[in-house]
Amino acid sequence: MLIKSRMGVSADGFVGTPEGVPTLAIMPGFEPAVSHGYPEFIEGCDAVVMGRSTFVPALGSPQWPWPGLQVYVLTSSPLPAGTPEHVIAGRQGPADLLARLRARGSDGDVHLVGGPRTIRAFHELGALDRLELVVLPVLLGEGRPLSPPGASPVPLTLVRGDRIFPDGSAELVYTTT
Ligand SMILES: NC(=O)c1ccc[n+]([C@@H]2O[C@H](COP(=O)([O-])OP(=O)(O)OC[C@H]3O[C@@H](n4cnc5c(N)ncnc54)[C@H](OP(=O)(O)O)[C@@H]3O)[C@@H](O)[C@H]2O)c1
Repeated sequence: MLIKSRMGVSADGFVGTPEGVPTLAIMPGFEPAVSHGYPEFIEGCDAVVMGRSTFVPALGSPQWPWPGLQVYVLTSSPLPAGTPEHVIAGRQGPADLLARLRARGSDGDVHLVGGPRTIRAFHELGALDRLELVVLPVLLGEGRPLSPPGASPVPLTLVRGDRIFPDGSAELVYTTT
């Protein structure tokens, strides 16, 4: 089981607009679950994990973004009305959620959707096996940075970096060890 994250990031380092919209979602030609290498990335995953701030806006999507995948949400509060019954709220903190993922009876990979605070929490537990970035051809100027405020430096090791998408985005695959 690999726990892997894939973030669309502006060329100046932002994963979301100041309003919290994922940078990937504002790119011309972005197609949810289709563009920017997502199908290949999600193959082999059977679960997704995200923080509450990433999950709640997705509840309003016209189509459920994670069909066929077990969804876990890191949060300290009950999930809002309208949350599908199969979504699991991890309310005992990241270490407990990680233990639940490892005990879920599957060796499938886990997509760590984000956002930055949740990715950092898993990294701090030594549980971020792979960080994939899709560097998008845009400078936002301001927005939500890839690292949460106050985060300490993390060296990355490049595993792969030879894939370019039609809009000029570049994929970079790292491990954090
Ligand atoms: N570009 C991309 O591909 C991409 C993908 C995903 C997200 N995003 C962007 O990321 C932004 C949201 O990221 P974010 O970092 O602010 O929020 P987040 O990680 O999505 O969610 C934060 C929430 O998760 C819970 N949480 C996170 N870390 C925790 C910890 N260590 N212990 C306990 N609970 C924890 C807390 O919920 P409670 O408050 O309930 O305790 C916290 O408020 C949005 O702007 C979104 O657009 C971008």
